[in-house]
Amino acid sequence: MTDAKKLFVKTYGCQMNVYDSERMVEALAASGYVTTDQVEDADMVLLNTCHIREKASEKLYSDLGRLRGLKAARPGLKVGVAGCVAQAEGEEILRRSPVVDLVVGPQAYHRLPAMVEAGERLVDTEFPVEDKFSLLPKRTAMRGPAAFLTVQEGCDKFCAFCVVPYTRGAETSRPVARLLDEARGLVAQGVREITLLGQNVNAYHGAGPDGAWGLARLVRELAGIDGLRRLRYTTSHPNDMEDDLIAAHGDLPALMPYLHLPVQSGSDRILKAMNRRHSADQYLRLVGRIRAARPDILLSSDFIVGFPGETEADFQATLDLIRAVGFGQAFSFKYSARPGTPAAEKAPVPAEIADARLRDLQALITAQQHSAQEAMVGREAEVLYEKPGRLPGQMVGKSGHLHAVHVQDPEGRIGDLVRARVSASSSNSLAARLLSRIA
Ligand code: SAH
Ligand code: SF4
Ligand code: F3S
Repeated sequence: MTDAKKLFVKTYGCQMNVYDSERMVEALAASGYVTTDQVEDADMVLLNTCHIREKASEKLYSDLGRLRGLKAARPGLKVGVAGCVAQAEGEEILRRSPVVDLVVGPQAYHRLPAMVEAGERLVDTEFPVEDKFSLLPKRTAMRGPAAFLTVQEGCDKFCAFCVVPYTRGAETSRPVARLLDEARGLVAQGVREITLLGQNVNAYHGAGPDGAWGLARLVRELAGIDGLRRLRYTTSHPNDMEDDLIAAHGDLPALMPYLHLPVQSGSDRILKAMNRRHSADQYLRLVGRIRAARPDILLSSDFIVGFPGETEADFQATLDLIRAVGFGQAFSFKYSARPGTPAAEKAPVPAEIADARLRDLQALITAQQHSAQEAMVGREAEVLYEKPGRLPGQMVGKSGHLHAVHVQDPEGRIGDLVRARVSASSSNSLAARLLSRIA
């Protein structure tokens, strides 16, 4: 096709943005757009943005600055801003940045093709009345054996530091039937692993055939889909880890032994100031219950250091919690004051102190990550191949614990699920020897 228009998409932020970008690409495919990875060739550039920390937001404006030259050279070029900065700043983006043609919030993606067609500068940050995904075309793009599926969106928790309740809106869950449909469609395209996504995924309460379903019931139903070998879900809030979900980790083999369970801090005083609504001890007891159900589960978390008012003792309490749990990996961030959130009103911890704490915390997490990987050496792992490795005959995939694993397997194909024995651990991955092909 000579008249296909080219679309360049850049995605920042969380996995939900990755999912949303895929859906926007599909929606625009119906208007004749095909994707390109060369921004210089693009007829349209779509930036799917993140607002979570100041640095993330600033990336948008530095990228827009770079696009100015390109637009001067290609006057027909359209530039769209989507995602959480679009939601938070709306019209302001058009004012600040003349290269931008369209601003579309995460809840208005179904209107993107019409906005593109309209051909004038437009902003849409409305929240829809129904499941926006049902207004988008069915999923067609096949990207590999592991896929994301958004089941829940938005958040009602209002942690004192966080913009998500403002950018993604109130918590909503997609209906069970639509999710089963979408999951079956993915499996029919060769997907073998699905990660269910939500800002508060374990608060899922979608409409089912007989009333609202929780995440545990949804996961159990999805596990019954023939050909779907693996399920994961992210991100969970500790207060929504219900008993039936914990039990599912014990008795559903398809549910992978990995759980991302952000705690943010180990100090009760800071947890309270953050409005997390649980104590450090409650978190530790929850971890105990999860490990009782699935002893080999690998836990991951998010931490914020330098939250306003954090003292040295508070920070030490966080390190204590990390030592008590033993994480397989974790993400950690220096607190970033976000306009409009309650914590932004408070006096910040000096940057040098926050920087030093972040370094200490990351050193501890890195050590824990390495010992979790070392503990795998000599043990068996199931690996789902996602791509060829750098060496000839090598495949790379993920284990149940979400470790990247390299396997020498000249016959291996993307999508194969194999059993392998781990032989070595390096900084960010494992090496393993093929034992047998499972499927
Ligand atoms: N819904 C998830 C996380 C959403 S944001 C949850 O409830 O945990 C991902 C992570 O970014 C958060 O867990 C937090 O650690 C970090 N984060 C959010 N707002 C932040 C801020 N203002 N400054 C620094 N880190 C932040
Ligand atoms: Fe943000 Fe997560 Fe807190 Fe919701 S629960 S406000 S998404 S950190
Ligand atoms: Fe960022 Fe929005 Fe995700 S702020 S982390 S893209 S929900």
